[in-house]
Amino acid sequence: MTYAAITGWGKCLPPAVLTNQDLGTFLDTDDEWIRSRTGMRERRISHVPVGELAYVAARRALAAAGLDPGELELVVFGTTTHDEQAPNMASGVQRRLGAWRAGAMDVNTACTSFLYGLSSATALIRSGVVKNALVIGAELISPFMDWKNRNVAVLFGDGAGAVVLQATDREEGVLAEKLGCDAEARDSLRIHGMGTRYADMTHRIGDTTWIFDGQDIFKRAVKAMSGACEDVLARRRLTPADVDLVVPHQANLRIIDAVAKRAGAPPEKVFVNIERYGNMSAATVVVALCEALEEGRVKPGATLLLPAFGAGLTWCAHLVRWGSRVTPVGTSDAELPPCSRTGLELVQEILARKVGAIGWPDPT
Ligand code: ACO
Repeated sequence: MTYAAITGWGKCLPPAVLTNQDLGTFLDTDDEWIRSRTGMRERRISHVPVGELAYVAARRALAAAGLDPGELELVVFGTTTHDEQAPNMASGVQRRLGAWRAGAMDVNTACTSFLYGLSSATALIRSGVVKNALVIGAELISPFMDWKNRNVAVLFGDGAGAVVLQATDREEGVLAEKLGCDAEARDSLRIHGMGTRYADMTHRIGDTTWIFDGQDIFKRAVKAMSGACEDVLARRRLTPADVDLVVPHQANLRIIDAVAKRAGAPPEKVFVNIERYGNMSAATVVVALCEALEEGRVKPGATLLLPAFGAGLTWCAHLVRWGSRVTPVGTSDAELPPCSRTGLELVQEILARKVGAIGWPDPT
């Protein structure tokens, strides 16, 4: 039997920080509201394109695995925020890595994109199509944010992470997964102004209006992630006590707490970093996984539970068995170019570039 072990991991966070206090300088909001409703204190704003964040994370993940890019057979890029409609993002990372033997594909299921990508790559390794894969979760939300809407502007941040998967006959990597989608609720989160349906409009693509029903998403997210956790544990005949660490999607601390409670996971078994990064969509779970490793929270042979949800409303949970190595084989010298601006200055630049789109037609 072939499995797909996670052998490398790397993250890349842009250095510019946008605090809750910064948001209060141009929105009717404050630190107390944001912290008490979401658990967030600050998030990162990128000064480089999403492909750059992903490339640095990818180099770090490959170094951690000790895998030469020339040996890579597949690049999977999970994101909602592509540089361009075509070519895809994965081919850009492939070229910069010099991974000439690899296939390259993008996956877009919003915040669950990394985990859906993990499923895709695992399946291709387990079926023998490829022997290894690089799976990226990266997001550059700041240019598409509706910065005038306090309901959403306080929630998101930019970032990237990546893992390397390699074929093994040991029972490691994804042991069970459940994928789902509440498509009847797809109008709960829409970004008007991104995508080809806006090509004939007078507004510039990128001048977005976010349609967002936070309370509906909240309730559905708790229900769907809890159900998916139960499902994957039942598939392997495991109980919550068998899980060593839950590494959930970081959209709201209250959602994480509710899911953990329902999944029977005590707080010490749940990894949380939402206070520093906010919701980085496709990047949250993979960055949290990297930080759990850095902090020694993932032990050799650990059983991990990774639940997530995103626009669509897609949802999933993955049960992962970690291998014996919890430290990187090597490190990479890849770095982002320096940034001299603050998070607030970067957001002000984005705001100045937008002409302001109001009154998108109702979606059909
Ligand atoms: N600052 C101050 N007040 C605010 C803010 C803000 N940033 N945003 C909303 N409010 C106000 C509202 O206008 C409302 O005022 P009102 O009572 O006078 O009408 C009040 O605060 C309460 O708003 P609620 O929507 O009831 O607040 P709630 O407790 O539900 O929290 C939140 C809102 C944080 C958005 C929550 O519903 C949530 O986390 N939802 C899910 C998160 C989510 O959807 N994340 C993205 C999902 S998809 C993905 O991950 C890609």
